Amino acid sequence: MTELVRLHVLPAGEWVGARKGESLLQAVLDAGFKIETVCGGRGTCHRCQVIAPGLEGVPKRQERETFSEEQLAAGYHLACLQKVEHDLEVQVVELEDYAEKAFSPMVDWPGIRLAPSARRDIVRLDPPDLEDQRSDSRRLREALPDGTRARIAYEVLQALPATVRESGWHVSVTAVGDTVVEVERHHLRPPIGVAVDIGTTSVAAMLVNLRTGTAVDVGAHSNSQERYGAEVMSRIDHARTPGGLAALQAAVVGDVNRILGESCARTAVAPRDIVSMTVVGNTTMLHLFLGLSPEHIGEAPFVGVTNDGVSIEASHLGLDIHPRAEIHVLPSVAGFVGADTVGGMLATRLGDTDGTRLLMDIGTNSELALAHHGVVYTASAPAGPAFEGGQIRDGMRAATGAIDKVAIDRGSLSFSTIGDAAPRGLCGSALVDCCAELFRVGLVDGSGRLLDATALRARGSADIPALTQRIRTVDGQRELVIAEASESATGRPIVLTQRDVRQYQLVKAAIRAGAGILLADVGLAPDALDEIFLAGSFGSHIDLGSALRTGLVPDVGTDRIHDVGNAALEGARMALLDTDFRDAAASLARRAHHIELSGRKDFNSHLLASLPFAAPSESSGVHTPATQVLHA
Ligand code: FES
Repeated sequence: MTELVRLHVLPAGEWVGARKGESLLQAVLDAGFKIETVCGGRGTCHRCQVIAPGLEGVPKRQERETFSEEQLAAGYHLACLQKVEHDLEVQVVELEDYAEKAFSPMVDWPGIRLAPSARRDIVRLDPPDLEDQRSDSRRLREALPDGTRARIAYEVLQALPATVRESGWHVSVTAVGDTVVEVERHHLRPPIGVAVDIGTTSVAAMLVNLRTGTAVDVGAHSNSQERYGAEVMSRIDHARTPGGLAALQAAVVGDVNRILGESCARTAVAPRDIVSMTVVGNTTMLHLFLGLSPEHIGEAPFVGVTNDGVSIEASHLGLDIHPRAEIHVLPSVAGFVGADTVGGMLATRLGDTDGTRLLMDIGTNSELALAHHGVVYTASAPAGPAFEGGQIRDGMRAATGAIDKVAIDRGSLSFSTIGDAAPRGLCGSALVDCCAELFRVGLVDGSGRLLDATALRARGSADIPALTQRIRTVDGQRELVIAEASESATGRPIVLTQRDVRQYQLVKAAIRAGAGILLADVGLAPDALDEIFLAGSFGSHIDLGSALRTGLVPDVGTDRIHDVGNAALEGARMALLDTDFRDAAASLARRAHHIELSGRKDFNSHLLASLPFAAPSESSGVHTPATQVLHA
């Protein structure tokens, strides 16, 4: 029999139960507290920090690497490395769900024809008499616009005689495709559809009035699967464990239900009025949402169960909407180029016209789609978790206390944090800013080397002494102090290390190598690009100047680069409102030429060529104050 112990979780002050012998991280997460788990409990990300003075035993190696002697003495631990053996007091740092606030703004796209798969009509039926002995169902079908081909769901047939008579033969009829799924007493409520974007980090959903096409509400939350790791590969690994796939599916379906529940409460929409849903996401997230095994996406040749569009009824997935609602998952291109990219291609009309356009969705796995005179090429660059805080010494995801912007002005460094809170770490946009600013003022050279005071003096840069005082060497590694221990929320300085700069170089070089290979395959140089679309949450939050200065995006000039916000969700909305876009999505996914970068012999040469930092061209439109540049 499982023995239970109790945890007193601070600062909430709640007592919660835990199974004796289970991981402390698991127990805290199961109790509903949100703490960071980039590595999914493998003990490698150093993020799941708690204070539990009552834990006994010698600190683990990773804990010694993470904490100072004083912190170890005070009971600092990594929760995933500790087991709960007895009643315990544990202090956690809860992450606020920042996904909703960080939601990328929607771009105003041109009008879309209204032709959804679900409709609701108000019809008056002629009561039967001896001259008109048509059955109730035939009477209903013949009263519907073009309804003679309609099928009527069994449960609707069962209730039909009472419904039509009690409503005085005046009813609202909801059809999904060619099936009548609801007949109710006459009312004016519109049918509601939902466009959903399932990202590895967050889930977003938009309620849409299917009669007018207008957005009713938008909501977003962190993807609850993050407890199993921040990256797609951690989720795939967990799906291979007994019960893992079901747990991952339950987590993401629960997220969608939670967002819809909150949206319905805000807007007074009845969940049963939601009769259609379109879903985009990366290929693995869509497999998990559908309860399909993503196992083989995780290993070469990276093949999923299906890349086709899938339509099923809501009742199969446990969604808290009309049980007969149609759920349409848009098609993917490949194991690592999902329906989110297809949605982005739909929204940007990427392959519709002449010209050369590049869609970049920058993230842990960065998807790229290049359209050249209507032909579409795709690739996926494994950028790693640096933008989510993984593999960065003081990295963290975008949450309260994350430093999100860094600037250097006349030798003085300043930063802002999310929620104006005391700094806890650096999120992805700050990582890009740090590298861009340090390179701009000469503290990092073109090779990515963080210079010390001696090297800077040799380069004639004595005009930035305040900055050089921030540079120090710890355990043989050079680092720059962004925030002093006295101003941070953790009591430790927040630093950018030489290794962090190298990590960022690898990330941006992987993305640029992918773009370089796509362009080279069609015989083009980056300056041939007419437009670049930056999609996704990260694309919306990075500073474009910093992205250009560090070479994260091709140097084509700011006037040709567009932030398109959550284009994937817009693509899902288009497919919700006009079923022709589902056919267009299927066509795009089918005819896209996917280029598998892991099999390319020239990937390394592109990667190496993309590693250095180089000053942006004069035509880039990026303002570079000459007084601070030491590279010239
Ligand atoms: Fe514990 Fe990563 S170190 S979750």
